[in-house]
Amino acid sequence: MHQYSQGRYTTQGHKGIPDNHFEEEQGRKGFFGPVSHLIKPQPSTRWTQIDGPLRPHLYDVINMNHTVGQWQRLLFNSHVEVSVCWQNKSTSMPNEAFRNADGDTLYFCHYGSGTILTEYGLLTFSKGSYINMPKCVTHTFIYNEDSHFLVIESRASFYREPERGMVGRNAFYDPAAFGKPDLEQMHELKKQKNIKVIGISVKKMDVMTRFEYADCVYDTVGWKGDFFPYTLHVNDLMPMISHRVHLPPSAHTTFVADGFVVCTFLPRPLESDADALKVPFYHQNIDYDEVLFYHDGNFFSRDNLHAGMMTLHPAGFPHGPHPKAVKNIGSKTHTDEYAVMIDTWQTLQVDPSLNSVEVQEYWKSWMKGT
Ligand SMILES: [Fe+2]
Repeated sequence: MHQYSQGRYTTQGHKGIPDNHFEEEQGRKGFFGPVSHLIKPQPSTRWTQIDGPLRPHLYDVINMNHTVGQWQRLLFNSHVEVSVCWQNKSTSMPNEAFRNADGDTLYFCHYGSGTILTEYGLLTFSKGSYINMPKCVTHTFIYNEDSHFLVIESRASFYREPERGMVGRNAFYDPAAFGKPDLEQMHELKKQKNIKVIGISVKKMDVMTRFEYADCVYDTVGWKGDFFPYTLHVNDLMPMISHRVHLPPSAHTTFVADGFVVCTFLPRPLESDADALKVPFYHQNIDYDEVLFYHDGNFFSRDNLHAGMMTLHPAGFPHGPHPKAVKNIGSKTHTDEYAVMIDTWQTLQVDPSLNSVEVQEYWKSWMKGT
């Protein structure tokens, strides 16, 4: 389809928006499909009433009731399940192992630190680490301190690196930054701490089965191949920016799987061109439900947020920054936020456990004067 235009329009998205006007992007296939930019005198987020189930949601995940050591499901569809998990150093079981036969597990460490025994060797993690544990890889967490994870389970495919296109192999992150499993270190730790893991709990169809052995299951003496668990820390992500124009969220894509992507928002300088939009643009991401987990920092585009909160913006209506953020943007030169975004092709179902921590008035937060 060729481009077509009517009335007042700009020749570059997110730039040169007429004074006292707002741009709204309406796009297909995330930020890769047919797209148009509408210029409007007011943002389309100025609804005064919403009747029906479709609405923006905000959940205070960090304060939800939970059972330590168990995954608490939050959101799900047939491609992905998003859960959270709290772990206490004192109740962890370094002599037991876990294997997920339902899918690949991407753990994101919201806080905490420790090491992970795997059949491929030892991994280490800390606050801000992604841990990509492929399907059926046996592993055991050993915590240095109480830890909290966002758990993103890919149930229809394995995780892949994003297409890097014209920015090349090393953009956003260099694959050399992956934390690889170290077999020698693992055997050393086993010896030092006298660790003998004899039980493996396997999750299949969300039901656990425990396999027991007479001796330690972490007995690999060597391996080769391109299938193995690894870590990636947010400090090793190099956010891409243009000083001239606001880049779409897809510029921050960290992992890709069938039916969804995982992106990471990081501190970065704001655009410096005088006519560049400096807040996330109002948009309808028509084909994707959007989940944002707030990890750390100052969440400048939203009011009244704290770390450990999560938003769900289902496809079907536009979203964008809050009025106060738009007003205050002139005084800012950089963002200071760390957040994990999950965009899903299929509609997400909400686990009833989230109801008790939903911030009910969130849908009103775009109203003028809020
Ligand atoms: Fe969005």
